[in-house]
Order: sequence, then structure tokens, then C-alpha cells
Amino acid sequence: SAPSGALRVPKYPAISTGSKDCILFSLIIPTYNERDNITNVIQVLTKLLDSSIYGDYELIVVDDDSPDGTWEVAASLMTSYPQLRVMRRVGERGLSQAVIRGWQVAKGRILGVIDGDLQHPPHVMLQLLRAVEEGADLAVGSRHVDGGGVSSWSVVRRFLSRGAQVLGLIILPGVLGRVSDPMSGYFMVQRNSVAEITLHPVGYKILLEIIGRGNIQEIAEVGYVFNERVEGESKVTWKQYIDYLRHLIRLRLTTGHLERMNKRLNFPIGRFLRFGVVGFSGLGVDLTVFYILRQIFELGLTRSTILSAETAIINNFLWNDIWTFHDISSRQTGKGARLKRFLKFNVICLAGVILQALIVNLLYNVLKVNEYLAKLIAIAVVVLWNFWVNLKLSWRV
Ligand code: GDD
Ligand code: MN
Repeated sequence: SAPSGALRVPKYPAISTGSKDCILFSLIIPTYNERDNITNVIQVLTKLLDSSIYGDYELIVVDDDSPDGTWEVAASLMTSYPQLRVMRRVGERGLSQAVIRGWQVAKGRILGVIDGDLQHPPHVMLQLLRAVEEGADLAVGSRHVDGGGVSSWSVVRRFLSRGAQVLGLIILPGVLGRVSDPMSGYFMVQRNSVAEITLHPVGYKILLEIIGRGNIQEIAEVGYVFNERVEGESKVTWKQYIDYLRHLIRLRLTTGHLERMNKRLNFPIGRFLRFGVVGFSGLGVDLTVFYILRQIFELGLTRSTILSAETAIINNFLWNDIWTFHDISSRQTGKGARLKRFLKFNVICLAGVILQALIVNLLYNVLKVNEYLAKLIAIAVVVLWNFWVNLKLSWRV
């Protein structure tokens, strides 16, 4: 599928040839040019898991056809490490997609991910596993809780990392606000929490996608120190920052995030924005019709004003009915229901015009406010009036 395509993790692992269909734990190791790290990584992880109570596991290297032949080295390890699987993706690139691709073929009840360059300390994996075993839906390795940190990052890199986090908090507080280290690429999740949900992995920050779309209640965090890279090099370029921004915006627009915030504020923001857009279109219609009536038909000022305003009201009603309040109007399908909504809308908007005149007069004549400022304030009040009263009366749920 396309690099930014939708991916789903199945609820149950695909039928395997092995004796058991489901195992405890699948750990994905995404790699791109990690030839000099992969052997070490597999060895350390296997040793840790084999001597723990979590012996029922598999390691899945997902390599994007690395030019350095990481996939080849990984595949050659399979004879010594029976719990190792290797997936070589040809023609697809991307850390987040690689992780989900791995989970799609995984057999574990718990799904995890760790970098393939030893920057994520392997022993933390057991703590993350324990947290999920003890009931967390998601366990995240964090650099920003007790026991966490970065080994020797420059001031610039720390600043960029924190800046990206603050930006994310502004755009998506409901996602970024749930963990101390939303940029972490070291975590474990219950298969149940992500199964059968359409994911749109973009770029590097797969955890955002999981928190944003997954069915995640309890989150545990385990501190870890982000090691310096010893072998190979980071694949992060400016493109990852662009991807990050794209990802934030996409999540913002496509998850129930707005609705959740609306509920908290008790104000339907999305609906209000649509109402505002329609309002602007109405302004255009109003001015155009007014111009035509005056210039071409040479109609009187009052008549032109009334006719163009009414045309704009009809325009706004139609767009609001089929777009802004679509969910509501599609439920009121009785005979004459639309006409009834239109008449209410019309009366409310006309009342709005009168209200506007009253406010302008009050501000200008009594409070001595500049007349344009007065008009602007009056418009703002009337837009809110129109929206609120129409919401409560014309498109009542
Ligand atoms: N399959 C695949 N495809 N793997 C990739 C790709 C890709 O396109 N790009 C990177 N990887 C692998 C790398 O080989 C490495 O194992 C891991 O993903 C992380 O990539 P790095 O390039 O080493 O990233 P980093 O060290 O800068 O970032 C790490 O820290 C971040 C926190 O600051 C990663 O763990 C991020 O996930 C984490 O968010
Ligand atoms: Mn790295």
C-alpha cells in the first residue's frame, strides 16, 4: 500500500504453522542500515528474555531493504535464534509503517517496539512488559520521569525536542498531554487496544498514532536513559519534522479530539467554524447580488439591500442545512421539516439584523465608540447570536 496508507492490526494473529497460535509477546525491531548493531541487539534481547519469566516471545526485525544489507545479516541469525523472524520490505520506507507491518504478522498478545541501534536500554523492556502484564493498556519508556534522561544531548537538540513537544501539546493536548514523553519510540501495548483500528502511520512518531486512535485507558511510564549511538547513524532529517507536523494536524482533524474538547468546553467548536465559513460565503453572495441589483437592474437602495440580504440568508441556510448541521438535519426528515427550519433560520437572522442595529447605535451614540469598531463588535455579537439561537431552535437535537 501507499506509504501513508491505512493499516490495521488483526484481532487475532494470522494462523501460524507453529503449535500455538498466540504467544505472550512480540517485539518489533525496525531497522534501516543497522548492520553493525543488529547482531548485538538480537543477542542482548534474547538473553534477557530467555532468562526472564517472559520466555514466550518472538523478535521481529522489520527492515526496509537497507542498502547495507541489514536484512541479510538478520536473516543469517535465524538459525541460532529460533524466536527471531525477519521481514524485508521492498519498495516501502518509514519507521511508523514498519512497526505496524511487524505487528500485523505478530503472534503476541502484547506488542512492543524497540530501536535497533541500542539507544533504548534493553533491560527496560522487562519493566515495560511487567507494567502491561499488571494491567496497563500501554507502557511507555520515558526520558522525562524518574530514572529517565538523555546521555549527552546538545542544548540545541534538547530545545528542538522540547519545542516539538510543546507544539504538539498546543495542537493535540488530548494526546500529548497523556504521557511525559510522547516522542518515545520505546513502548509496549496490548493487542486488544490497537486491534481492528484503522491506523495512518506517518513519519517517526508512532506512539502519537497509538494514543490518538487506540483504545487506551491505563498508561504506565518507565524511566529510561536514551543512550548515545555507538554504531551507525541516525536517520532523522528535516523531513521527520515536517512529517511530525503533518501527523499532528492529521490526528487533530481525524480523531475525536475536537469532540472531546468541545465536551469539556461545552461549546461545539467544529460546528461554529463551519458556521463561520458559511457566513463568509453569505457575505460574498450578499455583496454580489447587491452589486448586480444596483448596477444592472438599477433597483432602489432599500430594495436592493433587502433582496441581497435575503438571497444571502437562503444561501447560508442551504449550506448550514447540508453541511454545518448535516448530522441533525438528516435526522429530521419529516414532511416540511426543511421548510420549517428555513423559516426559523430566517426569523432568527432578521432578528440578528435588528440586534446589530441596536448594538451599533448603543456603542456609537451612547458609549461614543468609533463607528467601525462599533460595527465590528456588533457583527461579532450577532454571529454568536445567530449561531447559538439557530443551534438551539432551528437545528435542535
Ligand atoms: N524499517 C525502518 N524503516 N526502520 C527505520 C526507518 C525506516 O524508514 N528509519 C529509521 N529506522 C530505524 C532505525 O534503524 C533505528 O533502529 C530506529 O528506527 C530509530 O531510528 P534513529 O534514526 O536511530 O532515530 P533516533 O535515534 O533519532 O530516534 C529515536 O529516539 C526518538 C526519541 O527521541 C527513535 O527511537 C524514535 O522512535 C524516538 O522517538
Ligand atoms: Mn537511534
